[in-house]
Amino acid sequence: TTPDPRALRDLAVRVATEAGGLAAEGQAGVTVLDTKSSPTDVVTKMDRATEELIRSRLLAVRPDDAILGEEGGEAGGDGGSGVRWVVDPIDGTVNYLYGQPDWGVAIAAEVDGVVVAAAVNVPRRGELYEAVLGEGSRCNGEPLQAPPAVPLEQALVATGFGYFPERRVQQARVLVEVVPHIRDIRRGGSAAVDLTGLAAGRANAFYERGLNPWDWAAPGLIASEAGIRVGGLHGGPPANDLVIAARPELYDALDALLAPLGA
Ligand code: IPD
Repeated sequence: TTPDPRALRDLAVRVATEAGGLAAEGQAGVTVLDTKSSPTDVVTKMDRATEELIRSRLLAVRPDDAILGEEGGEAGGDGGSGVRWVVDPIDGTVNYLYGQPDWGVAIAAEVDGVVVAAAVNVPRRGELYEAVLGEGSRCNGEPLQAPPAVPLEQALVATGFGYFPERRVQQARVLVEVVPHIRDIRRGGSAAVDLTGLAAGRANAFYERGLNPWDWAAPGLIASEAGIRVGGLHGGPPANDLVIAARPELYDALDALLAPLGA
């Protein structure tokens, strides 16, 4: 039987709510446990504990599902159900480490490779986002509609930086070319908060190179169900190469600016 996206959404919301509570309780006094891809790429014990909670809650209800998580990689069930969960237990780990509020728990459900349901919990903002493919997105139960596009020169654009020094050099070069053409730039520290923020009208556009699926799967569906186009270069699918998100007219303008820069 085909999994019901609304049931997957309800499960994602329930688990993201519990996981966000656990992470919020553990934020004060948290320290670095380990580094991953580079010395700036940190992990705390709460990243791991939160992901473990999410995995165990999802598998308790749906033991045959596969799970891709930021900390634990690909594991869980054998995927025989056709459902794969894409999970970032704490997106915005550096904000989390410094006691800042902009971090979130992101849980997406893919069916046959398509994200059909999502929840993003940003506990310190008191915001719980949810979406079902084709049915719109909500924040705390209220339907979301992203504000209309603005011209590029009036756009507040969010972006982020990866953890590899070489990548940051490239990202800084691109930034130099982007900043003169826009209203201003924001580096909020969490792609999940940035992308859901587009749905909520806190910025007009987002781009980042080097993101992983767990950074964009859940918040990307929430943004796109609120009228934001979420894709990659030249309007392709979002990819590690580049994720761009904005209302379609602004997306095209940003795409045209970024494409020649090898962003
Ligand atoms: C990071 C955040 C950040 C983005 C990085 C991500 P993490 O996720 O989303 O905003 O710039 O590329 O890796 O590591 O905090 O889960």
